[in-house]
Amino acid sequence: MPRESAAYKVCACASLTQDMAKPTVLVLGATGETGKAILDAFLVDGGFDVEALVRPSSAKKPQVQALGVPIRAASLDAPIPTLVEVLSGVDILISAIDGMHTLQQIPLATAAKTAGVKRFIPSAFITVAPVSSPVDGTIMRMRDIKEQVYTHIRSIYLPYTVIDVGYWYQLYIPAIPSGRAEYAAMIRNRTQIHVGGAARNALVDLRDIASTVVRIVKDDRTINKSVHVYGDVLSENETFAMMEELSGEKIDRRHISAEHIATTRAKFAAAIASNPDDLHTQQMSYGPDYHFSMHVRSDNTPENAAYLGYLDAGTLYPEWKPITFRDYLREVLDGKATKPYGEWALTIGKNLDEY
Ligand SMILES: NC(=O)c1ccc[n+]([C@@H]2O[C@H](COP(=O)([O-])OP(=O)(O)OC[C@H]3O[C@@H](n4cnc5c(N)ncnc54)[C@H](OP(=O)(O)O)[C@@H]3O)[C@@H](O)[C@H]2O)c1
Repeated sequence: MPRESAAYKVCACASLTQDMAKPTVLVLGATGETGKAILDAFLVDGGFDVEALVRPSSAKKPQVQALGVPIRAASLDAPIPTLVEVLSGVDILISAIDGMHTLQQIPLATAAKTAGVKRFIPSAFITVAPVSSPVDGTIMRMRDIKEQVYTHIRSIYLPYTVIDVGYWYQLYIPAIPSGRAEYAAMIRNRTQIHVGGAARNALVDLRDIASTVVRIVKDDRTINKSVHVYGDVLSENETFAMMEELSGEKIDRRHISAEHIATTRAKFAAAIASNPDDLHTQQMSYGPDYHFSMHVRSDNTPENAAYLGYLDAGTLYPEWKPITFRDYLREVLDGKATKPYGEWALTIGKNLDEY
């Protein structure tokens, strides 16, 4: 019997469905890239009552109206008793809030514990890296901030699962001279090879994250664990060679050194220190941090994930066949891919170009 079927039986969901009602899944961040994909995957599964938690200022946005699920509106700054009320009846709380609002999940977790939420999936969904060492300085600021949330969750014994993932294929498209891949590229004209391009990196298609979250939520083996979801492991050099082979075009590579990454990170660190509330600068600092972790330190591998204690989604669900990077590039070259973040990508992607 496949291991997953056994897990479904375990979950059969003694803890979730004693009265045979469908468990209620509440998704925070459902208008975002990750959150929308997750919400849609739960709707496709059909085994859950799916709802969305939105901030009141967004409740009337067309994107919220278009979700097609019941909406619970609350500010994450609301008093804890209000949040407890908002979470009433929720079995699974999933957050895909963006990296700038991470700490807002702390009061939400407190409220989830009181409300009896059976599992909280906080907004993790980043590449594998350790927490920064007190000796060697910051590795990924975003990870350190996320870890504050996980520490709080564990301190109140709230059942949880941390789901980290590969770097999105959608952000790793090598640019080709004809420009025919640019319609799908969030980072435009991406010809940069970082630190020689030899570091292997776990990568994933955004769509595979969502379907795997559904499997993980149904699987009691993943409670109070971290799970690593990835579809391919490739170096930048391998992805560029693959793009050249599939497109028949030669890419003129631009080499980015470890020193350049260090200088950029130092500039951002200084800017953040002088203005800690500047969310835009914080957001822009995440790109060079990713490159430092992925291409200088080579953190983002399945081997390091295993070392750090992650369960491997491919091992948990052997029948799951992720989209490969080669499949994804074919889709891009066939003109069938979608650019993440829509028009907003033009702003953010422009700023990421130089890294
Ligand atoms: N592995 C990778 O390569 C990769 C790539 C990108 C992102 N990520 C990670 O994926 C996760 C999700 O990021 P994303 O880019 O998918 O998010 P996103 O598209 O930017 O969407 C963010 C969502 O959070 C909501 N939100 C923001 N602040 C809120 C608040 N104060 N109260 C309630 N809702 C709020 C937004 O709702 P509104 O409609 O109200 O604005 C939106 O639905 C993050 O942890 C990020 O670090 C990973």
